[in-house]
Amino acid sequence: MSDIPIQSILDSEQTDSNTVTKVYLASDHAGFALKSVLIRYLQGKLGFEVHDEGPWNSERVDYPDYAWPLTLKVAQARKSDPNSFGILICGTGIGVSLVANQHAEIRAALAHNIFTAQMARQHNDAQIICLGARVIGQDLALAMIDRFLSTDFEGGRHASRLQLMSKYREQYE
Ligand code: RB5
Repeated sequence: MSDIPIQSILDSEQTDSNTVTKVYLASDHAGFALKSVLIRYLQGKLGFEVHDEGPWNSERVDYPDYAWPLTLKVAQARKSDPNSFGILICGTGIGVSLVANQHAEIRAALAHNIFTAQMARQHNDAQIICLGARVIGQDLALAMIDRFLSTDFEGGRHASRLQLMSKYREQYE
């Protein structure tokens, strides 16, 4: 039998179920349709505050113009609420991931399946997941963001590797 008071268990469950995850989404024209699907999906789920950072139609745009502001938003939001994440979508996911990784405090992971979506959080503590709308289908994308947003960073040896990453970047700058 556990000797943890029942009220503290109830309190912690209450806190967990009340936690709101802020999710910021942006794309280019190639990712616009998938972004709309992901936004509707997340808006229909409890516990998510969804921010559409554009574009708001499917006209041709340049992905840095949306990926960089999204990256700044996520970095800023995480200063007051670490439960803030980003989803970036372009045709391949490559362009938006290159843009987001220009930010010193952001790790943006290009993921292609549920395993890489999970590992992006579990081992790399990525705050932004990047998806290729011309690479993966809608159902897979939904499963991937579910896994990404529900996986915690494992820490330990993986935290040391992230520290090394920062150290080498700072040495170079
Ligand atoms: C747009 O045609 C395409 O180049 C862009 O969506 C993305 O795949 C770039 O990495």
